[in-house]
Amino acid sequence: MATIEMKNIVKQYGDNAPAVRDVSLEIDDGEFVILVGPSGCGKSTLLRMIVGLEEITSGDMMIGGERVNEKPPRDRNLAMVFQNYALYPHLSVYENIAFPLRLHKGAKEDEIDRKVRDAAETLELTEFLERKPANLSGGQRQRVAMGRAIVRDAQAFLFDEPLSNLDAKLRGQMRTEIARLQRKLGVTTVYVTHDQTEAMTLGDRVALLKKGVLQQVATPRELYEKPVNLFVAGFIGSPPMNMLPARPKGDQMELPFVTFTMPPEMAKAAEGHELLIAGIRPEHFVDASSPQPPEGAVSFNADVDVVEWLGNEQYAYIPFEAPEQVRKTLDDLAKDLDGEKMQQQIVVSLEPTTRVGVGEQAELIMDVSKLHLFDPETGDNLLLGAKEKSEDAQA
Ligand SMILES: Nc1ncnc2c1ncn2[C@@H]1O[C@H](COP(=O)(O)OP(=O)(O)OP(=O)(O)O)[C@@H](O)[C@H]1O
Ligand SMILES: [Mg+2]
Repeated sequence: MATIEMKNIVKQYGDNAPAVRDVSLEIDDGEFVILVGPSGCGKSTLLRMIVGLEEITSGDMMIGGERVNEKPPRDRNLAMVFQNYALYPHLSVYENIAFPLRLHKGAKEDEIDRKVRDAAETLELTEFLERKPANLSGGQRQRVAMGRAIVRDAQAFLFDEPLSNLDAKLRGQMRTEIARLQRKLGVTTVYVTHDQTEAMTLGDRVALLKKGVLQQVATPRELYEKPVNLFVAGFIGSPPMNMLPARPKGDQMELPFVTFTMPPEMAKAAEGHELLIAGIRPEHFVDASSPQPPEGAVSFNADVDVVEWLGNEQYAYIPFEAPEQVRKTLDDLAKDLDGEKMQQQIVVSLEPTTRVGVGEQAELIMDVSKLHLFDPETGDNLLLGAKEKSEDAQA
């Protein structure tokens, strides 16, 4: 087991724009880190540079405190599990797991046997040891691939979208299994995915990449509650954070539906700006008849144009008009996020028992304390800085 430390890692293919740009990231011994981001953002490239399958253009890759840039993959002692975990179809589960051990000349048979059986026990594969991979379920095959990684006593596990070939149900099961196994083994793990749920549930920390640049590295909760910029805010969360044009005027803030008095730190952050983007998550609205409206909430009426009732939750959609400048920022954001054009509407998550009709006016309450303010030019979360600054000032 080992730490993985990346210092200013760059990867450039030919004359193209760099696929990975100046990434610095320290992964603790035993830590589970998720690399996430839209397609093409450099996740696989970064992972492959850790393992040694891709040359590093510049920067230092340190594993267990040692620089490994020039070391071939076999000397790095890392175990990689790919999306297509290539098992050997003609070999039994036992031999598939034993495979990496047999590559070492002089490996003792009883030693191999002990390791394979230990791994099979951990992975609950003991009863399948004599089977061929073709006669296993997708999840069992996945576990065989992990068994191969386990027997090697690797310093770290590296996964590249290992679950993306599985159906939704199995993916859920395997997700839990990988999390459990990682805790049990305590092996440093880097896991690439573009699946939100995997990113939020699996890791100790999540590293979000955009076009090869690291945007934020934080716990899932911090990423969700304190996104550093528009991109992070828009990427994490489903349905995504609502983005609205926001016009500060003195201590008043004007949103499409409501104008309210800003709390002091918000007013401070908004100072000097004419037009901002306000971000607020769907769950930070409630129906006005809610028994316990949040503190610092403002109420307003809005025309609901679509309602989605899902049994355990309910979403109401409220259209709005945004000025050109905000529209452009939001369209660019949608492009970066690999998504469709941003709809000019907010999504509000309501109690499923709330009765709201299409075409009706709903009286809603918004929790102002949960509002984020973004600079439309830079995308920076202005309030985050302001809050921290005021905390620093108090300290
Ligand atoms: N061998 C290569 N030669 C040239 N460009 C490459 C090569 N491999 C990857 N790239 C480019 O580098 C960028 C990052 O690719 P990478 O495979 O790391 O993305 P990713 O984040 O893993 O995406 P996905 O989610 O689609 O797997 C992409 O723009 C890709 O086209
Ligand atoms: Mg990839």
